[in-house]
Amino acid sequence: MYFSRKILMVSLLCIYASCNADAQRGGLSLDYYIETCPSVEEIVRSETERIMSIAPTLAAPLLRLHFHDCFVRVSSYDIGCDGSVLLNSTKNSKAEKDSPPNFTLRGYGSIERVKAAVEEKCPGVVSCADIVALVARDAVSILKGPYWKVPLGRRDGRISNASEALANIPAPTFNFTQLKASFAVKGLTSKDLVVLSGSHTIGTSHCSTIATRLYNFSGTGAPDPSMDPEYVARLKSRCRPTDNTTLVEMDPGSFRTFDLHYYENVGKRRGLFTSDSTLLSDGLAGSYVRRQGSLATAAEFFEDFSDSMVKLGSIGVLTGKEGEIRKRCDAVN
Ligand SMILES: *[C@@H]1O[C@H](CO)[C@@H](O)[C@H](O)[C@H]1NC(C)=O
Ligand SMILES: *[C@@H]1O[C@H](CO)[C@@H](O)[C@H](O)[C@H]1NC(C)=O
Ligand SMILES: *[C@@H]1O[C@H](CO)[C@@H](O)[C@H](O)[C@H]1NC(C)=O
Ligand SMILES: *[C@@H]1O[C@H](CO)[C@@H](O)[C@H](O)[C@H]1NC(C)=O
Ligand SMILES: *[C@@H]1O[C@H](CO)[C@@H](O)[C@H](O)[C@H]1NC(C)=O
Ligand SMILES: *[C@@H]1O[C@H](CO)[C@@H](O)[C@H](O)[C@H]1NC(C)=O
Repeated sequence: MYFSRKILMVSLLCIYASCNADAQRGGLSLDYYIETCPSVEEIVRSETERIMSIAPTLAAPLLRLHFHDCFVRVSSYDIGCDGSVLLNSTKNSKAEKDSPPNFTLRGYGSIERVKAAVEEKCPGVVSCADIVALVARDAVSILKGPYWKVPLGRRDGRISNASEALANIPAPTFNFTQLKASFAVKGLTSKDLVVLSGSHTIGTSHCSTIATRLYNFSGTGAPDPSMDPEYVARLKSRCRPTDNTTLVEMDPGSFRTFDLHYYENVGKRRGLFTSDSTLLSDGLAGSYVRRQGSLATAAEFFEDFSDSMVKLGSIGVLTGKEGEIRKRCDAVN
C-alpha cells in the first residue's frame, strides 16, 4: 500500500511538473540546455550526420567512446561519464587515451569537430561528456537503430588516468562471471549486459584480438571449442596468427546496420569474442540472445537498448558546480 501510494504521488507530481522518471536520473534532465543552448541537439545531429556521411564506419567507435567514458572510474572517486576519455596525456599524467584498451578507440577528432560547432553557437555552455552521449545516440539512430532521449547536464572531469582505464574496461576475453561483476560495479545488471552487448551489431575488430581464440585457445594449439567450426575456418582464412592490422566484422554481413543479426550469430555460436559467446552460458542472457535471434521485430531490443543506454549514460556523472565545461575536449581548461 505504502509503495503504491508513493508511486501514485510521484506520477501525479510528474504529470503536473511534466517530468519523467528517467529524465531525473542522476541529476540530469532532458531540457537542461533549453535556455542556454536550445539548438544543441540539432547542431550535434547535423555534425554527426556529416561525419557519418564521410566515414560511416566511425559509428561503432563513437558509440564505444561513450561506453568507455562511462565505465572508467577516475581516481578513487566514483566518477564515470565525464569526458575524461577525451583528454590527452600531459607531462605529469598518462591519460586513458594512452592505455591499452585505447586500441579500439577512434573518433576523437569527430568529437572535437562537433564540440567546435557547438562552441561557435553556445560558447562555454555544453560539456564534452554530454556531446559524447549525444553523438553516440545519433550515430546509432543514423544506422537505423533506436533513438532515445538523452538526459543532459553532465559536467567535464579534470582527471584522466591510464591505469584506471586498464582496470575498469571489461576485456573481450572475459567470461560471463567477470563481465557480470564488472557491470555490477557500475550498477548495471545482467540484462543491461546482454542488451548493451547488442552494440556489437555494428563495428569491426582487429584480428589480433581473436588470434588466441582462433589459434591457441587453451595452450594446445586448438581454437575455442565453443565456436562454430565453420565460423572458425572462415575467420582463420582472414586472420593469420600474427596479423595485427586486418579488420573483421563483428556482425558479418550487416555490420553497418544496427539490427538483431548480432544475436542470431551469437545464438549460432558465431560470437566474435569470448565476451559474446559467453552470453549463452547464462540462463537469462542466453534466453535473451535466443529470443532476440528469433524475433521478427526489433521493438523489444530497441526499447531495452534505449533504457540501458540511459542507465549507462548516468553512471557517476558530475553535475551542478562539480567539474567544469571544457573549452575543447582534449584538454582541461
Ligand atoms: C591532443 O592530441 C592530438 C593528437 O595527438 C593533437 O592533435 C592535439 O593537438 C592535442 N591537443 C592538445 C590540447 O594538445
Ligand atoms: C595507445 O596506447 C599506447 C600505449 O600507451 C600508445 O603507444 C598508443 O599511441 C596509443 N594509441 C592511440 C591510438 O592513442
Ligand atoms: C591513477 O590511478 C592509480 C590506481 O587507482 C593510482 O595509484 C594513481 O595514483 C592515479 N594517478 C593519478 C595521476 O591520479
Ligand atoms: C571466469 O574467469 C575467471 C578468471 O579467469 C575464473 O576464475 C572463473 O572460474 C571463470 N568462470 C567460469 C564460469 O568459467
Ligand atoms: C600456445 O600456447 C602455449 C601456452 O601459452 C605456448 O606454450 C605455445 O607456444 C603456444 N603455441 C603457439 C603455436 O603459439
Ligand atoms: C604488428 O605486427 C608487426 C609484425 O608482426 C610488428 O612489427 C608490430 O610491432 C605489431 N604492432 C603492434 C601494435 O603490435
